[in-house]
Amino acid sequence: MAKKRKTRKKKACCNDFFVVFVFLLSMAFLSVVCYFKTISFIQSKTRYYQLDKPPLTKDEILKQYDFTQSHTFHPVIHYILHPKPLCEHFDLDSTPSRVLICVKSLPGNFHLREWVRWNIKSNREFSGNFTLVFLIGQPLNSSTNELIGEESNFYGDLVQGNFTDTAFNTTYKTIMGFQWAIKNCHQAQYIVFLDERFKINLTSTLTFLRNESTPKSLYMGHLVKREKTNRVKENIRYIPKEEYPLSYLPPFVSGNAFIVSIDVAKTLAYHFDSVKMILLDEVFLGLVAMFSDVIFMHSDLVTLENCGGFKGKLACNMFLSVDDALHAWMEFTNSNVRI
Ligand SMILES: *[C@@H]1O[C@H](CO)[C@@H](O)[C@H](O)[C@H]1NC(C)=O
Ligand SMILES: *[C@@H]1O[C@H](CO)[C@@H](O)[C@H](O)[C@H]1NC(C)=O
Ligand SMILES: *[C@@H]1O[C@H](CO)[C@@H](O)[C@H](O)[C@H]1NC(C)=O
Ligand SMILES: *[C@@H]1O[C@H](CO)[C@@H](O)[C@H](O)[C@H]1NC(C)=O
Ligand SMILES: *[C@@H]1O[C@H](CO)[C@@H](O)[C@H](O)[C@H]1NC(C)=O
Ligand SMILES: *[C@@H]1O[C@H](CO)[C@@H](O)[C@H](O)[C@H]1NC(C)=O
Repeated sequence: MAKKRKTRKKKACCNDFFVVFVFLLSMAFLSVVCYFKTISFIQSKTRYYQLDKPPLTKDEILKQYDFTQSHTFHPVIHYILHPKPLCEHFDLDSTPSRVLICVKSLPGNFHLREWVRWNIKSNREFSGNFTLVFLIGQPLNSSTNELIGEESNFYGDLVQGNFTDTAFNTTYKTIMGFQWAIKNCHQAQYIVFLDERFKINLTSTLTFLRNESTPKSLYMGHLVKREKTNRVKENIRYIPKEEYPLSYLPPFVSGNAFIVSIDVAKTLAYHFDSVKMILLDEVFLGLVAMFSDVIFMHSDLVTLENCGGFKGKLACNMFLSVDDALHAWMEFTNSNVRI
């Protein structure tokens, strides 16, 4: 009996060792996996800026990557929805700083567009100073498209292009916005491009544009001087190596909110076809500006942060957190201003 127990114990001891060994090994393996998962998660959320070095210059980029193109052209964008003239109401003689607001929207975000309309159109005292349109592409879901048709009949403020609208395809939308604006709203002096999550303060924007020390010709927003190129596939800022091989992006103005005067818009649009496609619109525009020798202007008045310290700013993000979003929604539903 005693003997038997001894042998059993011996076996148990070695089994224990084995189990512990396997356990440790798998823990080590798991932690390595977790480490890489965490890293890639953080990388997909964080934007890396290199602030101690100057922005890349045209020559530095051209040395490694020829972003110009001469014989191929970007796809032609055809309008599926094309609002009737919206800029006819501008009084060219008596209204300075006429602004076209182009909001980049995703087809399915009906409720966000309602919020934007309310947020912008409730500034009735300026109604002769601005016009609002939404830029959208084609949704993958056909019933969403039917609803968009109804929305367009009701508001008449949707410009829809025949490109697939995904969050990874913002350049077509921005190109469409420039082209539509130049052709159909030449009465405007400025175009403001906004992400649908951004709020604009029209009072401070108009005051800023009318200030004598503001240049009449400008491309202004939040300047990003030197950001690391994102190579994480799932990330919304992902750029494949074939599209742009350098590890740092060219300097660019954040696409979330920027102001461009119509003359600069024309210069940029004229050169769209001379620059190779990059599906992230702000980076594409950065290269187009570089190609066309357009100089951007940085302004702290345009912030990518939330609207907490909004006083006096031109634009800020309304939906960075659940709290922000709730706040925006409460403001909207409690308001008795209807549009
Ligand atoms: C959009 O329409 C234009 C003109 O009809 C056409 O040339 C282009 O290929 C279309 N684009 C897509 C993505 O279908
Ligand atoms: C344009 O905005 C100004 C205030 O900045 C306002 O006084 C004026 O009435 C507006 N013009 C029109 C035509 O709405
Ligand atoms: C398409 O959109 C409708 C309404 O927005 C929704 O009910 C439906 O589930 C969607 N279909 C797919 C396949 O996503
Ligand atoms: C972007 O849109 C074009 C034109 O419709 C389409 O061919 C392409 O697949 C889209 N890309 C993505 C990533 O959605
Ligand atoms: C917009 O800016 C003006 C001053 O530029 C400020 O008085 C006003 O409170 C701002 N509006 C909001 C909603 O923050
Ligand atoms: C115009 O802009 C300058 C420089 O930013 C500023 O100092 C000045 O107060 C502004 N004037 C008005 C009337 O807002």
